[in-house]
Amino acid sequence: VVVMRRQMKSSGRWAKAEAILRELEEKCGTPTAKLRQVADAMTVEMHAGLASEGGSKLKMLISYVDNLPTGDEKGLFYALDLGGTNFRVMRVQLGGKDGIMKQEFEEVSIPPHLMVGSSHELFDFIAAALAKFVDTEGEDFHLLPGRQRELGFTFSFPVRQLSLASGTLIKWTKGFLIEDAVGQDVVGELTKAMERLGLDMRVAALVNDTVGTLAGGRYNNPDVIAAVILGTGTNAAYVERAHAIPKWQGLLPKSGEMVINMEWGNFRSSHLPLTEYDQILDAESLNPGEQIFEKIISGMYLGEIVRRVLCRMAEEASFFGDTIPPKLKIPFILRTPDMSAMHHDTSPDLKVVGSKLKDILEVPNSSLKMRKIIVEICDIVATRGARLSAAGILGILKKLGRDTVKEGEKQRSVIALDGGLFEHYTKFRKCMESTLKELLGDVAEDIVVEHSNDGSGIGAALLAASHSQYLEIDNS
Ligand code: GLC
Repeated sequence: VVVMRRQMKSSGRWAKAEAILRELEEKCGTPTAKLRQVADAMTVEMHAGLASEGGSKLKMLISYVDNLPTGDEKGLFYALDLGGTNFRVMRVQLGGKDGIMKQEFEEVSIPPHLMVGSSHELFDFIAAALAKFVDTEGEDFHLLPGRQRELGFTFSFPVRQLSLASGTLIKWTKGFLIEDAVGQDVVGELTKAMERLGLDMRVAALVNDTVGTLAGGRYNNPDVIAAVILGTGTNAAYVERAHAIPKWQGLLPKSGEMVINMEWGNFRSSHLPLTEYDQILDAESLNPGEQIFEKIISGMYLGEIVRRVLCRMAEEASFFGDTIPPKLKIPFILRTPDMSAMHHDTSPDLKVVGSKLKDILEVPNSSLKMRKIIVEICDIVATRGARLSAAGILGILKKLGRDTVKEGEKQRSVIALDGGLFEHYTKFRKCMESTLKELLGDVAEDIVVEHSNDGSGIGAALLAASHSQYLEIDNS
């Protein structure tokens, strides 16, 4: 009797887990027709965001970048890239037509307490790392005598630019929350911190990572028209015709173009497939109601969504047995790289899943059945994110009129992509790429997705070079 009862209990448990899984699958569904609606909504919001300040959830921020790198940039430039879990400092020696002569970088992880501390502390920490890096500049790098070092600052948060080299922080995203920095000019904050340390350096360009990636991508390939980041957060930038930006009050740039930082992470639409897990994740996040697109696509959140599904399975279907593993209750304990590792597990007994469960959630024994369900959850959550990011790209192509084949005109459009999710989560990347093909149909062969490795740092250095204070002297 005991054995039978145990068996019944166990089959009921699987049935319940299975039901939760099927419900998840249904709610996360992204059939092609839905993706087209998402893309159309994205295009509509792009128009609205360009029309007036505050006209849409899509901020469509003006970057002040109206010229992309040409390949003539020359000299030694620094870049600083802040916006994910790590920040980077780099220097690059640009050789004009000879390209990049030499580059060096260093990656520093940001102590978590600084992500939610004070502006002063964060910028002091960054400036100190930069100063240390500058000290290691070797003889392969040449700063012309009498010159001040110049820096491109990649700051990957929404910024209202005041000029190419200044801008105020609109809000934090991706787990940063430093209230006294909101509304401040981030270049001013960095400059003050550098002065406090006696580091003599001028910020020549302030750019979002998408804008940096676009600049870096264009340097290598003139067909690059947009850049997308799929990393801790997600966002896109693209080249817009200046006369298609009604809210732009300034003079029309000579190039007739302006790079727009969409801040698409904040996109929201009734067409987005949202689940109860997403709603609670959002409500409990540092920025409730904001960055909804980002919260269902990007690396900061995918693992956390999976954790929330597992929590419900543990509670309602006794998925892990009679007790709920205490570790499972800890928000963000299941990181997207761990999710990716489980999702890519090809061993017949899913041993990677088994060892992740053991190491992270302290679940010592797991059956193959359990492991299979977990892989399925990963697949559902990653597929939704990947397919939605493809829909976002289609939205941009539609806005630019590059989503259809034009008669007698062969037009190649390259999209530069970067970010850890794109780079390391193979199934995510493959799904995003195949979905884009599926959505584009005939025009798919003219649209290329290109990985722009660390383009954002180099891009910022290139923009610093093309906006150097010494440029006029050089040209004369
Ligand atoms: C977040 C930021 C955005 C950035 C993106 C990718 O969405 O708000 O500025 O580009 O993450 O790093």
